[in-house]
This record gives sequence, C-alpha cells and structure tokens, in this order.
Amino acid sequence: MSAPSRIAIGTGPGAYDVVVGSGLEDLLPGLLGPDVRRVLVVHPEALAARGARLREGLQRNGFEPHLASIPDGEAAKTAGVAARLWGVLGEANFTRTDAVVSVGGGATTDLAGFVAATWLRGVPVVHVPTTLLGMVDAAVGGKTGINTGEGKNLVGSFHPPQAVLCDIETLSTLPRQDFVAGLAEVVKCGFVADPQILELVEADPEAASTWDRPVVRELIERSVRVKADVVTADLREASLREILNYGHTFGHAIEQVEGYTWRHGEAVSVGLVYVAELARLAGRLSDDVADRHRAVLTTLGLPTSYAGGRWTDLHDAMRRDKKTRGDMLRFVVLDGLARPGRLEGPDLEMLQAAYAAVTTSAATDREA
Ligand SMILES: NC(=O)c1ccc[n+]([C@@H]2O[C@H](COP(=O)([O-])OP(=O)(O)OC[C@H]3O[C@@H](n4cnc5c(N)ncnc54)[C@H](O)[C@@H]3O)[C@@H](O)[C@H]2O)c1
Ligand SMILES: [Zn+2]
Repeated sequence: MSAPSRIAIGTGPGAYDVVVGSGLEDLLPGLLGPDVRRVLVVHPEALAARGARLREGLQRNGFEPHLASIPDGEAAKTAGVAARLWGVLGEANFTRTDAVVSVGGGATTDLAGFVAATWLRGVPVVHVPTTLLGMVDAAVGGKTGINTGEGKNLVGSFHPPQAVLCDIETLSTLPRQDFVAGLAEVVKCGFVADPQILELVEADPEAASTWDRPVVRELIERSVRVKADVVTADLREASLREILNYGHTFGHAIEQVEGYTWRHGEAVSVGLVYVAELARLAGRLSDDVADRHRAVLTTLGLPTSYAGGRWTDLHDAMRRDKKTRGDMLRFVVLDGLARPGRLEGPDLEMLQAAYAAVTTSAATDREA
C-alpha cells in the first residue's frame, strides 16, 4: 500500500488536511487532536458495519465513542434527525472539546456537519466520505445543511471540518451507478481547472469507473486539489468559488423538475453539456471543446440529453436558483479549456437554443 497523500485546504488557523489513500481507518484517532474525549460517529444504515469498526478503533485509542445511525440518503437531512442527534450529544454530556465523525455520502456529511456546527455553537467534525461525490465535493469546503419542506439545503451553516479522510476502500460497496454519478463532478473539475483529468478519463474510461483502479486515486486527488485551490483562493477573491458551480444551474433545474429522483451527478452531467452549448452559441467556446463535454461524459455512461417539451419548467427552476440575481440568469461558462468566465443575462432565444441542442442530441443518441 502506498502512503496516503495530504492535501491542505486553506492556510493559517482553520486550515485542514484532506487525506487520500486506501485502508486508512487507523488514521482516524490521530486526526481528532489531543483535546477530544467523546466522539459521536454518525453513519447511515447502509454503513453500520463500517461505523462500528471506527467505534472500536476509537475505543482502543482511549476515546469515549458513541454511535448514531441515521436514515440513508436525503431522508437524513431533516430537522427531526438533527434534533435526535442533539439529544444524543446532550445525553452523553458532549462539551466543546468533544467531536463528531461522519461516515457516509454527502447527505451524511451535510447532516453531521450541521449538527457539529450547531452543538454548543460549534464542535470539531471529521468527515469520512464514502461516496466519490462526498470525497471530491460534499465533505470538502465546509458547507453543511439540511432540507425543509420548502426546499433543499435551505437551513445550514458554514463549518469547515477538522480533517477529511478519503479512504478509497470505502468505495468497494458503493453501487457502480453512484460511483459513476460522482465522476460528473470529477469531469467538471477537469474542464474548469485541470485538463489532465480529462486526459486520464479519456485514456481509459473503464478504469476511471472502477473504484480499485489506481487512476481513481489520482482523479480524486486532482479533483480535491481543484477544490482546495478554489476554497483557499476564495478567501481573497469572492467570486472564484463559483467556478465549482459549472454545469449546476441547468443541473439543479433538472433535479427540481424531476422532484429529486435523479442522482445529482447525472443532472450535472446534462448541465455540463447544456452550458457548453450555451457558451458555443454565445461565440465563446470552440466546437472542439464544446463537443468534448458530450464525448467524455458519454464514454463514462453518463446522460448528456434531456426530454424535450419541458422548457418552461426548467426556465422557471433556473430563475428560482439561489445564484440568480434579480431576474437575470448567470452562468459559469468556459472561454476555453480551464478558462472559466461568466455569462450574465443571455437572451431567451439563446437559452432555448442550448436546450434544443441537449434535446436534439437525445434524438441523435436514439438513432445511433
Ligand atoms: N456540502 C456540500 O458542499 C455539498 C456538495 C455536493 C453535494 N452535497 C450534498 O450531498 C448529497 C448527495 O451526496 P451523495 O451523492 O454522496 O449521496 P448520499 O449521501 O445520499 O449517498 C447515496 C446512497 O448511498 C449510500 N452509501 C453511501 N456510501 C456508501 C458506500 N460506500 N457503500 C454503500 N452505500 C453507500 C447512502 O446511504 C445513500 O443511500 C446531497 O444531499 C447534496 O445536497 C453537499
Ligand atoms: Zn455538484
């Protein structure tokens, strides 16, 4: 086994490491720091065995571990589940120097991060993401949150973790389709900042979609570095974090219109093709880079087209997006590979033409 790599997020106080490697469970106790005594390990039902193993490791290392099982997926991100965990922390007398550990996908890291952010106005949290999306996105950056009846992620807090432990071995039980959905975020990082990612995926898409192939570790490390650069530089330049929303305006609209039955990464995949078409129509992106979006996502088996006849719903959803300012739609677009820029207030005709381009391709796909 090769040594794990450590990628620093931020600088100075509040900086933390994302550790990437395989078989890293034993590193967890060391990431908690010297002051922590009680630890609440939060895991979804699907990861009960892994949660129990981490608890044993903590116990062996002299901590007082507690275990909390939460529902799988989005069902965990509710005020009710958060309140139950606050109850567990209160019952066990958790103080400001105790900690929370999350073991799960983005839903688990969001919920556990939120509980850690709010207990005594903030206790340390260490994330152990177990989905590709969690490793390259949700667990890194400090955004936490829960849903309400009115919408997703409406309540939350910014609470950077103490450390993130990306143990690739945890991906062994992740269904392949969930893994591939996470690759959409990896490809996004390739287009906005690190084209080497695209070359690695294009060279062997099958290896890139198989959790235990060496290239997967490199893809995770490169994607985390892209996020690290953005999060670190963002302290100086407020608009930079936006580039990570590449493909997300249209992707979020699909998620909403579909009532959140699509995987996030699959919606983002179509969103990436949409925004590439938009940039091409705006005369900002060359044909070859625009076409490369559809090509690389297709080789991974990700969707690149969406049903026709839903423009009004999609447009309404984009206008409600929290990134919209007033009534003007804003998109992160590319002016070339790894050259992100902003497109503000494109006219309706252009927006619709880009939609036509992602629906037309659906027809072409079917004929092919
Ligand atoms: N905070 C952020 O910056 C940020 C960024 C992106 C996404 N998110 C959030 O992340 C969530 C989506 O995350 P996700 O795609 O990781 O989904 P998820 O957390 O819902 O996990 C998907 C399913 O897989 C199960 N699972 C997780 N890891 C597994 C494993 N190793 N083996 C077997 N089953 C496993 C989960 O229990 C769940 O049922 C959304 O709620 C989204 O809002 C947050
Ligand atoms: Zn995303």
